[in-house]
Amino acid sequence: MDAFRIQGGTRLSGRWGVDGSKNAALPLMAASLLCDEPVHLRGIPPLMDVRNMTRLLRELGVDIHAQGRDYTFHVTDATKLHARYEIVKTMRASICTLGPMLARRGEARVSMPGGCAIGDRPVDLHLRGLEALGAQITLEGGDIVARAKKLIGTTIFLGGPFGSTVLGTANIMSAAVLARGCTVIESAACEPEIADLAVLLNAMGAHISGAGTPRITIEGVDELHSAEHEVLPDRIVAGTLAIATAISGGDVTFENYPWDHLLALTHLMHEIGIVVERVDPSNELTSRCTVRVAADGTFKPVLFTTQPYPGFPTDLQAQLMSLLCLADGNSIVTEKIYPDRFMHVPELNRMGAKLVRQGPTVVVQGVDELIGAPVMASDLRGSAGLILAGLAARGETEVSRIYHVDRGYVRIEEQLNNLGANIERIDGETGEVVGGAPLILTKPMTSGAQKTA
Ligand code: EPU
Repeated sequence: MDAFRIQGGTRLSGRWGVDGSKNAALPLMAASLLCDEPVHLRGIPPLMDVRNMTRLLRELGVDIHAQGRDYTFHVTDATKLHARYEIVKTMRASICTLGPMLARRGEARVSMPGGCAIGDRPVDLHLRGLEALGAQITLEGGDIVARAKKLIGTTIFLGGPFGSTVLGTANIMSAAVLARGCTVIESAACEPEIADLAVLLNAMGAHISGAGTPRITIEGVDELHSAEHEVLPDRIVAGTLAIATAISGGDVTFENYPWDHLLALTHLMHEIGIVVERVDPSNELTSRCTVRVAADGTFKPVLFTTQPYPGFPTDLQAQLMSLLCLADGNSIVTEKIYPDRFMHVPELNRMGAKLVRQGPTVVVQGVDELIGAPVMASDLRGSAGLILAGLAARGETEVSRIYHVDRGYVRIEEQLNNLGANIERIDGETGEVVGGAPLILTKPMTSGAQKTA
């Protein structure tokens, strides 16, 4: 298994362009199941989860052509109904094929996703929503089987104990576009990835309003048609690189930065004392901005709580926690989406951090420095947090099991190295440097990287 060997103490600088979003791309790809005509998506990031979704959609009768990051999806066999466990277990987002397949094919069988490293991840809200639309749902041999000759529009409340559900909203919204009559989703997820999905569905002929707010209204139509769409920039990758810049005391200008989608992070970064500023004030496309992030290595402590959008995203909790390890004082981090998403905490403590967890809250006592150590990644965003800690640590950090980070970041080590980091991808067993991940590299636009030891 690959690992990263990181020499800490380098400072990031230069320019960097933000990739298309993984979490937007996956439900957009699944939406191609809704029509018989080609759906063209641009800007799909070359990641393992995308590869898995491609594999799954092919098994579900979708012909897929890719040229670089531009993909065409075309359903050629609508008789395929089974998203098998072998694929679903590699990627929970497989669940977002359920709604589109049911709505278009009248039946869908999707293996029930299990728990994962970040905690219990039930799908009861997805199923409740589809049942409200008239689907009959059973569990057969570990598969969710949903059947409905024709879905019927209705009002659905999608709130759960931890707020709404992002992929659940994607599933119900996608299914409801082909239902008879009007569907209203109350307590819908407001994440930008949902608004992005609605833009594609409307371009395909759906009638959706309110996506991106807690109430989404969908007037059902009989069929959808071909459309083209560009995936929105990845707010979590952008946020991760912004925090990486700050923790390294660096200065990086980001292109294609989703400013509007990261206001909660920007607010906290300002409180911490980090410069985050738009450098294109005349640009009206506020989800694709040019933004400068700079820091001098001193950080004020803050309190933050993860929340559904537009609150602070759980997917950036680990990364910001790494930075707060180096703040001048005590910070408090509360996780309200996945109360057990703290596998990075003991690993950071191995690097000299002073973190104490009590239930869903971690007290972060700032220390003067982190010290390089071997640490183990257990999930995608936690791995990113450990890599950031390694950037700032004194000496060498080895992060093992980095296949997690490859699921959501396009060759993160090369992207960071282009900005001045010193990270090698090594064989975790032998310690030998390996040639690189099997994925395509996105080059930064330009690089004025410099290394300071
Ligand atoms: N929940 C329920 N019942 C459900 C669905 C969810 O109780 O039926 C709970 C979950 O257990 C959790 C909360 O509701 O406590 C929110 O879960 P949600 O359904 O919104 O998560 P998701 O849609 O499965 C997406 C992202 C996650 C991200 C969450 C929250 C994708 C592919 N995944 O997951 O991304 O953390 O929303 O923002 O879009 C990641 O990228 O690392 C990642 C985990």
